[in-house]
Amino acid sequence: MKFISIKEAMKKGSGKVAVRGWVYRSRGSNKMKFIVLRDSSQTIQCVIKRENFEDQWEEIDKLQVEASVEIEGIIKADKRAPTGYEIDVSEFVLVGESDEFPLNQDSTEGIQADNRHLHLRNSKMIAIMKIRSRYVQAREEFFIKEKFYRFDTPVLQPTQSEGGSTVFEVKYYNSKSYLAQTWQLYGEAVIFALEKVYNMGPTFRAEKSNTSRHLSEFWMAEMEVAWWNLEEVTEFAKKEIKYCIEVVAKDCVEEFKLLGVDVKNLLKIAKAKWPTIKYREALSILKKKDGMKVMFGKDLRTIEEQKLMQHFETPVVVTHYPREVMAFYKPQDPKVKDEALCFDMLAPGCGLEIVGGSERSLDVKDMSERLKKDKEDPKNYQFYFDLRKYGSVPHSGYGVGVERVIQWICGLDTIKEAIGFPRTMTRWTP
Ligand code: 4AD
Ligand code: MG
Repeated sequence: MKFISIKEAMKKGSGKVAVRGWVYRSRGSNKMKFIVLRDSSQTIQCVIKRENFEDQWEEIDKLQVEASVEIEGIIKADKRAPTGYEIDVSEFVLVGESDEFPLNQDSTEGIQADNRHLHLRNSKMIAIMKIRSRYVQAREEFFIKEKFYRFDTPVLQPTQSEGGSTVFEVKYYNSKSYLAQTWQLYGEAVIFALEKVYNMGPTFRAEKSNTSRHLSEFWMAEMEVAWWNLEEVTEFAKKEIKYCIEVVAKDCVEEFKLLGVDVKNLLKIAKAKWPTIKYREALSILKKKDGMKVMFGKDLRTIEEQKLMQHFETPVVVTHYPREVMAFYKPQDPKVKDEALCFDMLAPGCGLEIVGGSERSLDVKDMSERLKKDKEDPKNYQFYFDLRKYGSVPHSGYGVGVERVIQWICGLDTIKEAIGFPRTMTRWTP
């Protein structure tokens, strides 16, 4: 018989089916076993009666959680079964035995992390991974619809780009290179050929502290466009995130339910208007509503982002941060000299910074000076400066922190749950 997924079997609802998967739970007596079988689509209760399996009973009786099995039998609706259906088993094949599984509901976070390769089978992890997968697919669809070209760039790069303090150095034959902190500088190079480009790739930051919102390796989903200014690019960022949220909220109803997330609220957020405010307005909200005094001239800290975003029900774009503390490529606002033409998008409630972007500076002299201040040699950025020499145009772009978005929409306490194998300051195995 042809194997079908448990979900398909449940859709069929009656008659003979063949399914295969892993033992999720097992209980029963020496006359009858109830196995909850799990595949990537669903779980289902299977009943095995000893009278039909006398010669296989020993292996069935000893079945451990996570053993892999193939099953044939008659499916029927049963209100008492955990997922509403049950299979009365007529054929049983043990494909792979399982040792005693090292994880259970009482496992500590440390044990789960040591066994991450096995913890991925956990129902919460499965729900998160499915949501993440759909999110990333939706984003790809969005950029295809918007007629962007995908452009992939090196992970090994000759310079830092987002601050030397968080760059990972890598031995490169007899020289050294750095792991990508962003795709952006190369993305900027290709807009002169393709105008509208995007990508998504592994991104590295040697974050010196362990927080619930920082990874050392994460996936950044970036885009870069010729001719656009700050306003155009921020509105587009809203459009992208709204589109992706709407798709996952519609397609991942069961997964969000398992995580205790209300998809109606996500859909409401996706339909709402998302405000754009200036950094200086953010400071006055913090002062008025929270009694927090933040001096102009600093980036917002986590606590400030959290306080600010408790006042909003949707993401907010904050623009015009103090130029002094921004990356070298973020340009000065010609009208207000201490502000940069840049933005962050913050998520409601949790205050996570989910997007960062800007217009790009076209002023080579200014960028050189700022790099020197950061103890960088401008000579190493010659390729980047060249882009300002041969038909320079205004341009803008941004990067979305994929795990940050997943953390926000899934309501996760820690970003480590938003990626299969998290890398942090203290964890790089398995
Ligand atoms: O704000 P960031 O540093 O911006 C850039 O790197 C730009 N070059 C992007 C661009 O304009 N093309 O990073 C962008 C986003 C942040 O808003 C955040 O969501 C995420 O990447 N991010 C991290 N996510 C997890 N762990 C970290 N250590 C992160 N650092 C940044
Ligand atoms: Mg940022």
